[in-house]
Amino acid sequence: MRHGENMSATPDPVWAATTLLAWYDQSRRELPWRAAPGNVADPYAVWLSEIMLQQTTVKAVEPYFSAFLKRWPRVEDLAAAELELVLQAWAGLGYYARARNLHACARVVADDYSGRFPETEKELLTLPGVGPYTAAAIAAIAFDKPAAVMDGNVERVLTRICAVEAPLPGAKPELRAILEILAPAERPGDFAQAMMDLGATICTPRSPSCSHCPWRAQCAGLASGLASMLPNKTPKKAKPTRRGDAYFVQRSDGAILLRKRPTKGLLGGMTEVPGSEWREGQKVMSDEPIEATWERVPGIVRHTFTHFHLELAVYMAHVEDGFDAEKEIVPERCMWVHRSELDTQALPSIMRKVVAHALEHSNH
Ligand code: ADE
Repeated sequence: MRHGENMSATPDPVWAATTLLAWYDQSRRELPWRAAPGNVADPYAVWLSEIMLQQTTVKAVEPYFSAFLKRWPRVEDLAAAELELVLQAWAGLGYYARARNLHACARVVADDYSGRFPETEKELLTLPGVGPYTAAAIAAIAFDKPAAVMDGNVERVLTRICAVEAPLPGAKPELRAILEILAPAERPGDFAQAMMDLGATICTPRSPSCSHCPWRAQCAGLASGLASMLPNKTPKKAKPTRRGDAYFVQRSDGAILLRKRPTKGLLGGMTEVPGSEWREGQKVMSDEPIEATWERVPGIVRHTFTHFHLELAVYMAHVEDGFDAEKEIVPERCMWVHRSELDTQALPSIMRKVVAHALEHSNH
């Protein structure tokens, strides 16, 4: 196993940059945000493409990128657009927080930077929606600043060229150190994109095309026969399953009992169907929000969060209009919302599933 202090498998940096850039000049992908060889890329186009490419493939991004640039040719145009129109144009790309941040960032650049993107990673990092990877990518590609641009493709290329067997994500600092050695002072933007293209077209996850690779002469992964097996990855911890109950109450006038979640914590401030706590293992005691006759809705509602799976059992009750006046209370943090107005609520996906599950059962 390699360690940080043993860089013996790193190729000669001058040779590596020269061969990779020569390959890039011949074989680079034509992508709509790329400047023609020898031309400077438009920072607005580079930023827009990098935000769109976060968690989305080049193929999916291309038509959106072209449509955005056509409709809003400059960052000032995007800044002046209504957020609703930007969100509509974004529809289908997913992760809508990115579109909100995109719009917020356009405003900052238009208002605080007179429409010119800042050039350093440090300043770029202060912009909405711009994290360390994106800041490095914009600095390198738009402003030709030496920056270590490391995405998943680049990580794979680096583990192979140096035969790094230490698993990801733990090996990232070692890979970053290797990248800093390899990245040249000249043409850092082209080098960054060449690494991405090498990973996307030659050094692919399965069956890499080593015989066409500009780095094959000094690839430690190829020499040791490990290339197609790398990178190693630490197995992800299995997610635990939490369980709980949800209590769906329908009033005879069509209103449903909903509850506001506490501001802090998971799904903070969002709306929910009232329910028990969600726990691993032993089920918690039930705590129905009102006294009523409860019927168990057959089936289970499942949802997966970042750190756990959730399984909810749904119980349903019907109460009469005027129920509250009789009891003189609405349970804590609860409110009645008419079925037809559910769209006005910040109901997260899991709760939309609970409502749909309960309504489907009650319509039968
Ligand atoms: N993935 C993320 N940024 C990219 C770029 N500039 N070119 C190609 N693929 C990318």
